[in-house]
Amino acid sequence: MVWSGRLALGALRAPGLGTWPGWLRGSGPTVLRRLRGAAVVRPGFLSSAEEETLKQELEPELRRRRYEYDHWDAAIHGFRETEKSHWSEASQAILQRVRAAAFPPALAQLPMVHVLDLHQNGYIKPHVDSIKFCGGIIAGLSLLSPSVMRLVDTQDPQEWLELLLEPGSLYILRGPARYDFSHQILRDEESFFGEHRVPRGRRISVICRSLPEGEPGPPSK
Ligand code: OGA
Ligand code: MN
Repeated sequence: MVWSGRLALGALRAPGLGTWPGWLRGSGPTVLRRLRGAAVVRPGFLSSAEEETLKQELEPELRRRRYEYDHWDAAIHGFRETEKSHWSEASQAILQRVRAAAFPPALAQLPMVHVLDLHQNGYIKPHVDSIKFCGGIIAGLSLLSPSVMRLVDTQDPQEWLELLLEPGSLYILRGPARYDFSHQILRDEESFFGEHRVPRGRRISVICRSLPEGEPGPPSK
């Protein structure tokens, strides 16, 4: 049996996807309990104007790059990416909202924001972000296409949680969701949330991370 984590709001209408019971579903009540507050989805975090702002800023930069497929052992297939530190004022305000929602004020964050553009046939294989490059919190915005992120317990593959990531949503991974579970973005052929098909098109994610532990934070003034 599959257990859904229902939001307090109950069933909400997701454009184009019908009515969904929630944005999280897992292998059982234990995993939902373990990851409560550790794997979080905030649907509709971005307004459509904010989505448009980010898309318009990112598209010219991404278009200059080619999608990469050739690293057979790499975690990500069919992608192009950039690390961005300079943003328009409008985008900075959006990123500030993400940071305020995801990170405690005193936690040092990576100054560069990771922008990942997955081709319609691109996908992310299960992995745990390296502790060399990423601290305890990962926060990602999704643009353009809905997708399913699956978390699997690295010690027990029977324990899993799925996140439905619609365009404009924010997800946050921390604690056990960051360290004890791998995460992946399902390829189009496997992109289901329960029995609901989630057709995968091109997807852009904008990811903020905290600084690896033990790294000095940015110099304070
Ligand atoms: C990554 C990753 C998830 C996403 O780049 O390590 O897991 O939302 N990305 O694109
Ligand atoms: Mn990752």
